[in-house]
Amino acid sequence: MITKGIVLAGGTGSRLYPLTMAVSKQLMPVFDKPMIYYPLSILMLAGIREILIITTPQDEPAFRSLLGSGSAFGIKIQYAQQVSPDGLAQAFTIAADCGFLKNEGCALILGDNLFYGHDLVRSLKTAASRTHGATIFGYRVNDPKEYGVVEFDSDGRVKSLEEKPQSPKSNFAVPGIYFFDRNVVEYAGDLRPSPRGELEITDLNQRYLDQGELVVEILGRGTAWLDTGTHESLLQAAQFVEVIQARQGLLVACLEEIAWSHGWIDLDTIERRTQQLGKSSYAGYLQKLLSETNDVHH
Ligand code: TTP
Repeated sequence: MITKGIVLAGGTGSRLYPLTMAVSKQLMPVFDKPMIYYPLSILMLAGIREILIITTPQDEPAFRSLLGSGSAFGIKIQYAQQVSPDGLAQAFTIAADCGFLKNEGCALILGDNLFYGHDLVRSLKTAASRTHGATIFGYRVNDPKEYGVVEFDSDGRVKSLEEKPQSPKSNFAVPGIYFFDRNVVEYAGDLRPSPRGELEITDLNQRYLDQGELVVEILGRGTAWLDTGTHESLLQAAQFVEVIQARQGLLVACLEEIAWSHGWIDLDTIERRTQQLGKSSYAGYLQKLLSETNDVHH
């Protein structure tokens, strides 16, 4: 079982300038919560409670003041810095250097990725339960050029992986959530920078593929995968969250609710959080959760 996860929340966020000139992209609002809540919630839903958040050196204090030790969410958060945005695969060397990862498997999620949908939690838990090899996902998008792209043969086996191809061989992009076994630190350490100067996650995935140890699971169309790297996609993500929440009366990525449903925090902790969160609708939601839970118990 994979019990550790990294949220990679560094980068420059230059496509969102001037929004992100002074504030990290992963602290931007996606409707009613900071962006990082969404990827954090996904690791938690996968059952992962030991989490490393990697940020730029400038942004680390803001993430610490937002999330602290993680105790409000029943998780343990450590922080590490990526001095320059040298690529996604660098996360694993940073995680090993700061003592977070020893000889063990680990999940990685990008701090600007939002996932929502039917069967998602089951897929995540299956991936987290594999102790050998790597699991990544394939998701059909209209324009895959900006992503890693996976091509399948007629038997559904992976034929190729390409990073940001000019002419994609399929419409299946690789979303920003990955599960790797204990070899990940060694394999990441063997990588060399790509022509664009980054340690590429696609090269890490290729290594697992070459060794016959890569599983690519399809995330079906019943799942939403959004990223939030441009002004348009950030607005779309906010609208998506607003629509679902208004319809259901349930919050997407309410960290306290997820922690409570796993039995990781008690009602007193939620009560204290509700006080801290003031007059926000998020606090109102926790308040409602508390009163419904008390009703059930009395
Ligand atoms: P990107 O969106 O590819 O890059 P970016 O966030 O720097 O934005 P821009 O292209 O607008 O300049 O990054 C995807 C995610 O990975 C995002 O959450 C930031 C994070 N990231 C790092 O933490 N370190 C890195 O070295 C890179 C490349 C990205």
